[in-house]
Amino acid sequence: FQPKLLAGKRVLVTAGPTFEALDPIRGITNHSSGKMGFALARAAREAGADVTLVAGPVHLPTPRGVTRIDVKSAREMLQATLGEEPRADVFVATAAVADWRPAAQSEQKIKKPASGAAPVVAFTENPDILQTVAQGARARSGALFCVGFAAETHDLAAHARAKLVRKGIPLIVGNIGPLTFGLDDNQMLLVDAQGVRELPRASKTVLARQLVAEIARRIAG
Ligand code: C5P
Repeated sequence: FQPKLLAGKRVLVTAGPTFEALDPIRGITNHSSGKMGFALARAAREAGADVTLVAGPVHLPTPRGVTRIDVKSAREMLQATLGEEPRADVFVATAAVADWRPAAQSEQKIKKPASGAAPVVAFTENPDILQTVAQGARARSGALFCVGFAAETHDLAAHARAKLVRKGIPLIVGNIGPLTFGLDDNQMLLVDAQGVRELPRASKTVLARQLVAEIARRIAG
């Protein structure tokens, strides 16, 4: 059992996928289950933190004692996160935010044209929630400790290091090996300015506790 490493701290977590509507019926999303983010929220709560979880569409119960805000799209997730972030000490972005959304949302179901021609969907870029929050905190010299996640199919360490710099954050957690969407365990890489450290394969619950201990150590130091 973990001591109350985060007592008195406020932790904000984003989790799950986002859903980007095309029309009232359809949209694009991804395979994120939200399990890692929910495990982190639970572990942070167990460690004594006041935890708010901004969740995309997932099928998971709210961890006990955690405040949950449900959202659908990336823009809703950004708004909810910005509303909570000024009070947070730690922000962990585990959400698999859609990089793009349909440029236009039709208010009515898009019907098949008689010609049978398939529609062409134009996309527009979504806001980067982690980058926006980290930048805002830096601009007001806030002490918000931001942690990012990286799911890659190749060159994980290199991509994770690049993300660290691009997003201006102190810690990135990389998912090693095959994508772990929906699975109960994971193998992770901690990447910071000092280098790379591996957390061996374990359940997402165990990894979440290790990550909470790692974050607590870093904000205390
Ligand atoms: O840039 P990339 O999507 O690879 O970075 C992943 C990290 O950035 C994750 O922590 C994810 O939650 C966060 N992110 C975000 N908003 C986006 C894209 C990614 O918060 N639009």
